[in-house]
Amino acid sequence: MTNPARFDLAIVGGLGHVGLPLGITFANKGLKVCLHDLDEKNAELVRRGAMPFLEYDAEPVLKKVIANGNLAVSTEPSCLSEAKTIIIAIGTPVDEYLNPKTRQFLEIILGLKKYFNKNQTIIIRSTVYPHTCKQLLKQLNQNGKEQWHIAYCPERIMQGHAMRELLELPQLVAGLSEKAIKDSTELFSIISPKIIPVSIGEAELAKLFANAWRYIQFAITNQFYMIAHNFGADYNKVRKAMIDGYKRAETLPTAGFAAGPCLLKDTMQLAAYSGNSFLLGHTAMMVNEGLPHFIVEDLKKRWDLSNTKVGILGMAFKADIDDVRDSLSFKLGKILRFDGAKVYYSDEYAKNPDFVTKEELIRESQVIIVAVPHSQYKGLVIQKGKEVLDLWGVIKQEQ
Ligand SMILES: NC(=O)c1ccc[n+]([C@@H]2O[C@H](COP(=O)([O-])OP(=O)(O)OC[C@H]3O[C@@H](n4cnc5c(N)ncnc54)[C@H](O)[C@@H]3O)[C@@H](O)[C@H]2O)c1
Repeated sequence: MTNPARFDLAIVGGLGHVGLPLGITFANKGLKVCLHDLDEKNAELVRRGAMPFLEYDAEPVLKKVIANGNLAVSTEPSCLSEAKTIIIAIGTPVDEYLNPKTRQFLEIILGLKKYFNKNQTIIIRSTVYPHTCKQLLKQLNQNGKEQWHIAYCPERIMQGHAMRELLELPQLVAGLSEKAIKDSTELFSIISPKIIPVSIGEAELAKLFANAWRYIQFAITNQFYMIAHNFGADYNKVRKAMIDGYKRAETLPTAGFAAGPCLLKDTMQLAAYSGNSFLLGHTAMMVNEGLPHFIVEDLKKRWDLSNTKVGILGMAFKADIDDVRDSLSFKLGKILRFDGAKVYYSDEYAKNPDFVTKEELIRESQVIIVAVPHSQYKGLVIQKGKEVLDLWGVIKQEQ
């Protein structure tokens, strides 16, 4: 075995949205970090100090830790043998029937076993289906013949703002051995202001509950939007009146697409765990995934879509980032096209040769839908005669 102390930390999935800012943050605190990932293209970019996706304030720190040698990138798993601690930050998707792909997640980690050793603590950072950590330990331990060390320290950052939030958010820490708890507490104490010790099950549930809670909050505000719209009221005005000086209501988010790679997926992980009896979770999915349909059905009352040009402003899954994973803007576009509309897409951050500029989109479209409130859309003025559908009220229209 090679020198185990060459890296303080190795991150599997180290070039992803969770792994990369985390690795940069630890490296910036002086740890020797190796990012292991299979993505050759992003590995090249990161070695040159370039971020493969938008994460605010990350690139200058990345350049610094690459230059001072604290951060290395390897597409070869052999680097894992040379680390004191391993963090797993690969994706944990659901399949096309919304079931968690737990087996695939476990198989990836078990496939790396020959590069791990029992002196290492393996910290799961990905969001997992309940009992996954215990399953992993059981399989690594070969049903009690060995003693491996597994911890669960879930990621809770808001994508795009990881560099700030990693240093601000309390860290849930759980482990399946004394060593795992000690090692992960020591590690996260380097970056987190507060460690919250919990059991593995509590940590798994707390992470899934937090995402399902957020998803359900979006669903209720989206349902209110639909009710208000059918009533003929401006939902933004109703919401403002409801929360103004009224603390009990102020956590109600604005209406809008609830999308992205985490909220729906984690709500469905919880639904699968609860034997598909998580009624609020499934209902939230129906409401949130139904919003694009609601918008199209409403437009059809006024427009013959087969003769209408519709522009969608904002293709990322949320404001001011470049990540289009599971964005509902594409679902909206698909439904509009099915009904015969000519559809234009535009985004300020996500790049795609099929996208047009916001100016071209506004010029060409008869109907303009703000799907994501990127900062650049605030105050845009649209000429009279066009229909603007803007859930956030960021765009102005000539009177
Ligand atoms: N994105 C977020 O804001 C966020 C926040 C909290 C939790 N999470 C959770 O964190 C996990 C990762 O999410 P993400 O958004 O970073 O995903 P991602 O797709 O951005 O990153 C995953 C990375 O893992 C790499 N990878 C895949 N298989 C690999 C393998 N066998 N070996 C090495 N590398 C491999 C991929 O190339 C990719 O770079 C998920 O469980 C997600 O639910 C994400």
